[in-house]
Amino acid sequence: MKKLIIANWKMNPNSLNEAKRIFNKIKIAAGKLKKVETVICPPFVYLSAFPRGVLGKLSKDSPWIGAQDVFCEERGAYTGEISVSMLKDAGVKYVIVGHSERREMGETDEIINKKIKTALKAGLKVVFCVGEKKRDGEEKYLNFTREQINKGLKSVPQKFFKNLIIAYEPVWAISSQKKARADNPESALKMAVFIKRTLLQKIPVLYGGSVSPENAAGFLFKAGMNGLLVGGQSLIPENFIKILKIANR
Ligand code: PGA
Repeated sequence: MKKLIIANWKMNPNSLNEAKRIFNKIKIAAGKLKKVETVICPPFVYLSAFPRGVLGKLSKDSPWIGAQDVFCEERGAYTGEISVSMLKDAGVKYVIVGHSERREMGETDEIINKKIKTALKAGLKVVFCVGEKKRDGEEKYLNFTREQINKGLKSVPQKFFKNLIIAYEPVWAISSQKKARADNPESALKMAVFIKRTLLQKIPVLYGGSVSPENAAGFLFKAGMNGLLVGGQSLIPENFIKILKIANR
């Protein structure tokens, strides 16, 4: 199975020109790597500037495009929101749902659950983010993460699970947090096993949180992660390409 490496650009970069510059560098490198599926998730306004994923017009080796969020309703009067149909029309294949930065802005498990269902029904691949805010010694964080998974996937039909990916991102490990540091491969492995047991399915599990060229191999090969969700380092093409090459080993 190919490793799945997803770039989460968050609210960056500040111009389309810069976005194209980063994208094109990554595209050239990613096209040569056969054991990696590369996905770039730019801000909504840049989505349609990149080669289309689902609807054709795409050179076979170009990275797939993903969105960082989507609205839970399919259509209607929802000022400022973006629908699943709009994403699909822009050639988007993946969508991140439930990122901790959105949860921090008030997104609840119920909203996340609705978004997941809407996106899966539309045929998008959902990258569902979970992870504890604090790591305690008593392993409560495992149950916390299980709760997030159970609530987010409540009454999601089994037939959609093939399009589901779980991204384990401990909030304290995300590089924008004060005193952030990446998790270690041993405890990430424990979580990956725990998540797979919770779901009783073969769902890909990714790790995210301060991923860098220095620690990528540990998460991919020691922790046995199916891929990585990369924030800050995905905006530095040289470093993101290093991560892609490590995943291609
Ligand atoms: P980071 O972000 O790699 O900058 O820690 C990861 C994420 O928030 O998805």
